[in-house]
Amino acid sequence: MSAIDLNARASATFAQKLAETEALLKQAAQDYTSRITLACSLGAEDMVLADLVNRLQLDIPIFVLETGQLHPETLALLERLKASSRAPVEVFTPVNESVVEFVSREGKDAMYQSIALRKACCNIRKMEPLGRALAGKDTWITGLRREQSGARAEVPLIDRSEPRVKLNPLANWTWGDVWHYIADNKVDYNPLHDQFYPSIGCAPCTRAISLGEDFRAGRWWWEDEAAKECGLHVKSSSLPEKVSS
Ligand code: ADX
Ligand code: SF4
Repeated sequence: MSAIDLNARASATFAQKLAETEALLKQAAQDYTSRITLACSLGAEDMVLADLVNRLQLDIPIFVLETGQLHPETLALLERLKASSRAPVEVFTPVNESVVEFVSREGKDAMYQSIALRKACCNIRKMEPLGRALAGKDTWITGLRREQSGARAEVPLIDRSEPRVKLNPLANWTWGDVWHYIADNKVDYNPLHDQFYPSIGCAPCTRAISLGEDFRAGRWWWEDEAAKECGLHVKSSSLPEKVSS
């Protein structure tokens, strides 16, 4: 059974949510010309956002943090996105020397040893490249949804709590809405979603979930719930200051 068969179920207010999402994206593209970017993990939510940006022909570039630890399925989807996207897709990779030094010092399985080492790996492979991806931008768009976890239950559509504005156009979409859109618009998606991977990150830190498990149960599954964020969406992270306009 595919992820579409399993999940595509529009909520009663889907049409209204879609119209609001489209309006938010159009307005943002107008307001933040060349200072806005879409953070795309190649997960289902972000493929919906990339599809909207392309279908609405918005002037919003897309970036992907290619950590060097993504699944082959995710890398193949990245190549297809790069080939099909009207919006430019920029790929950010970690600094090679930092990765080599970390892996030779701590080992390739360091992420399982302690939360500190796992976060050190996320810093090298995600946070530092994220800093480069966001340099010169004062707004970014993410695929965060309230339903994804308790920690995300209050995610606003427009988050102005940090100097850099974060737009979460799918904040109030359900998982069923996401898959309804994917089915309706024939959006390309990661085949891992058909194998019970709802939330996909780096290969060593992502597993499939079983029936009844939480949406993010397959991410950093050996850690406590409270630790399970990589820093991308943690407040007051050490991102570079936005440029003043
Ligand atoms: S994470 O913090 O646990 O890794 P998650 O995978 O749920 O985050 O993704 C939340 C949002 O963060 C995505 O919708 C996307 O906007 C952004 N994001 C996560 N991983 C990446 C990535 N590798 N490249 C670009 N953006 C990403
Ligand atoms: Fe490293 Fe895992 Fe973080 Fe990826 S998710 S950067 S492999 S610790």
